Amino acid sequence: MCGIVGYIGKNNARITLIEGLKRLEYRGYDSSGISIHNGNEIKTIKSVGKVSNLEEKINPDEFRGNLGLAHTRWATHGKPSIENAHPHNAGDITLVHNGIIENYQEIKKYLIKKGHEFISDTDSEVVAHLIQEENKTKEFEEAVRDALKKIKGAYALAIIHKNYPEKLIVVKNSSPLVIGIGEDEFIIASDASAIISYTNRVLYLDDNELAILSPTNYTVKTISSNKSLYKEEQELDWSDEQAKKEGFDHFMLKEIHDQPHSIQDAIRGRIDMDNGMVLLGGLIPIEERLRSINRIIIVSCGTSYYAGLVGEYMIEEYAGIPTEVEYASEFRYRKPLLDKNTAVVVISQSGETADTLAALKEAKNKGALTIGIVNVVGSSIARQTDAGIYNHAGPEISVASTKAFTSQLSILTLLTVYLGRQRDMSMVMGKRILSELQKLPSLIEKILKEEGSIQKIAKKYADFENFFYLGRKYNFPIACEGALKIKEIAYTHAEGYPAGEMKHGPIALIDKNFPSIVLAPKDSVFEKTLSAIEEIKAREGKVVAITTEKNKDLSVEDTIFVPKTLEILTPILMTIPLQLLAYFVGTERGHDVDKPKNLAKSVTVE
Ligand code: G6P
Repeated sequence: MCGIVGYIGKNNARITLIEGLKRLEYRGYDSSGISIHNGNEIKTIKSVGKVSNLEEKINPDEFRGNLGLAHTRWATHGKPSIENAHPHNAGDITLVHNGIIENYQEIKKYLIKKGHEFISDTDSEVVAHLIQEENKTKEFEEAVRDALKKIKGAYALAIIHKNYPEKLIVVKNSSPLVIGIGEDEFIIASDASAIISYTNRVLYLDDNELAILSPTNYTVKTISSNKSLYKEEQELDWSDEQAKKEGFDHFMLKEIHDQPHSIQDAIRGRIDMDNGMVLLGGLIPIEERLRSINRIIIVSCGTSYYAGLVGEYMIEEYAGIPTEVEYASEFRYRKPLLDKNTAVVVISQSGETADTLAALKEAKNKGALTIGIVNVVGSSIARQTDAGIYNHAGPEISVASTKAFTSQLSILTLLTVYLGRQRDMSMVMGKRILSELQKLPSLIEKILKEEGSIQKIAKKYADFENFFYLGRKYNFPIACEGALKIKEIAYTHAEGYPAGEMKHGPIALIDKNFPSIVLAPKDSVFEKTLSAIEEIKAREGKVVAITTEKNKDLSVEDTIFVPKTLEILTPILMTIPLQLLAYFVGTERGHDVDKPKNLAKSVTVE
C-alpha cells in the first residue's frame, strides 16, 4: 500500500502535493518523491525516509508548475531506495503507482529485448516503460489504454507526459483512487485525506476506469472499450482524521475491513491454478534445498505466534513435514537442536521484533535454513533471513494486529501447498485448497456485513470480566488469538484453551458470570467441540458459538455464522468475528482501541 497524489489546475502543484503526501504518509513511509511539469519539462526529485526529508531537498524555484505527481512508498518490489522510489520515468512518461503488477517480469523481459533499460527493481517502472513503448506509435491516451490491456494485477496509476502539460491521466483497478474536484483544479489521491482540506466534492473511480483531467475539465472512460461514462460526484462531510480512516471510527475497524483486499494482495500472482502449484519468487533461490528439509520450526511473538500455530497444523497435515512452533523469546535462550535439514520460519509483521530477530540469529548460527514471512520490505528480519515471502498487507497502523494476521495465515496456506506439492500432495488437492483460498475475500465480505449483529453481542457481554475462548485443531490457535485480541483492546481477562482441555481443570471456573466464546465450525472435530459446549451449559455457563452457516446442531445463548470453507481455511474466517467482538467490547468500554494502554506496535527491545 502506497500513497499517491496528483494535481492539475491553476495553482502551484508542489504545495498541494507535499501537503497531500504528509497526509498520506500513514499509507507508506519508506521513501517519497515528486514530479512537477513546469510547462516545458518534467522535474523529479526523490528521497528515502519521511516526506519531510523530501521537502528539505526541494528547491521551490525549480519545482514550480501547474501539473504534478507525488508518491509516498511502502515497498513491495524492491527495497526502500532512491532508485525504487516513485515517480518512475521512461522517456516522456512519468508515473506513480500503488498496487502490484503480477506479470511485470514477463513484460520486463519483453521490453529489455526491445532495448529498454531499467534502473529500479520495481514493477511500477515496467509500466512506465510499457506506456513509452506503446507511445512510439500511438498518442498518449491510447498508449496508456493499450499498455493497461497487457497488465495483470492491481493498480492505481497517475500518469503525465512531457508533451502534454495540461493533461493528467489516472486509472484504477483494485487499488483505491479518488478525484477531488475544486475550482479550476483537481487533486487525485489514494484516499480523501489528501483532498479534504481543498474540497469535499469527490468522484470515486471504479475498477477498470480511466479519467483524463485538464485544469478545468474531466472525462471518465472505461479502459477496455474507451466508452465515456457519467459518474456521480459525491460530497464528503468527513474531518481530516476520518478521511484517513476512510470514514471508519478507528484504524482497527478500517483494517478489519481491509482484509478482503489484504488477503487478495497476499495471494495475488502467486497461484498457478492449472497445476495446483504456488509461485513464490522469494523462495526460488532455495527451492532445491527446501526439497530436503525434514523439520520445520516456526518462531514468532504475539499474534504472529498464533499464526505459526495454525501453520503447524497446516504443514503437518498437508505437506507431511514435522513442525514445531516456539515463542521467539523462549527459543533464543534454549538449546535448540537444529541442522541443515531444518528450516526455521520466522513470522513477523514488523520484521523488527527484538526477540524474533535474536531467535533468527541463533537459528542461523546453528546452520538452519531461515525463511521470513514479513510484512515490512527491507526490515531487519527480511534482510537477515536466507529467503522470504512478503505479506503485501500494507502498513498496519492500529497496535493490535488484524489484517497482518489473516495475511500471515494466507501466506502459510500458500507455503503449505508449495511444500506439499514438492512432496506427496496431489495436483487435485493443490487446486482444491488454492481455489477455496481465492474465495476467501468474498466470504470475508459476507461476514463483515454481519457486523451489526456482532456489535449487539459485544454490547451484551461488554461488562463481563472473564472469558474462555475455546477451539479445537485448526481453531485452537484462533481461540488463543481471539483471547489475546480482547485482552489487548478491552483489557478483560480471557483465556484461549483447546476445547478438549476444559474438563482437565478450567471448567472449575465456569458459572453464569464466566462466558465462553466457542469456535465450532462444522469440521472434523465439530462433535467433540459440541461435547465441550454441553459441559459448559450444564454448569450454567453462557456460550457464544461461532459456527458454519446453516448449522442447526447448536443450541446456545448466541450464535455467529460464518460461510462454509475447507477445514484448513476455517481459521481465517473464524478470526473476523473475534476481531470485531474485541473491537466492539473495547469501544463499548470507551477505550482508545488504536493505541491500547501498555502496548507497542513494534517491540524492538527485549
Ligand atoms: C507486539 C504487537 C503485537 C505483535 C507482536 C509481534 O507485541 O503489539 O500485535 O503481534 O509485537 O510483532 P511482529 O511485528 O513480530 O509480528
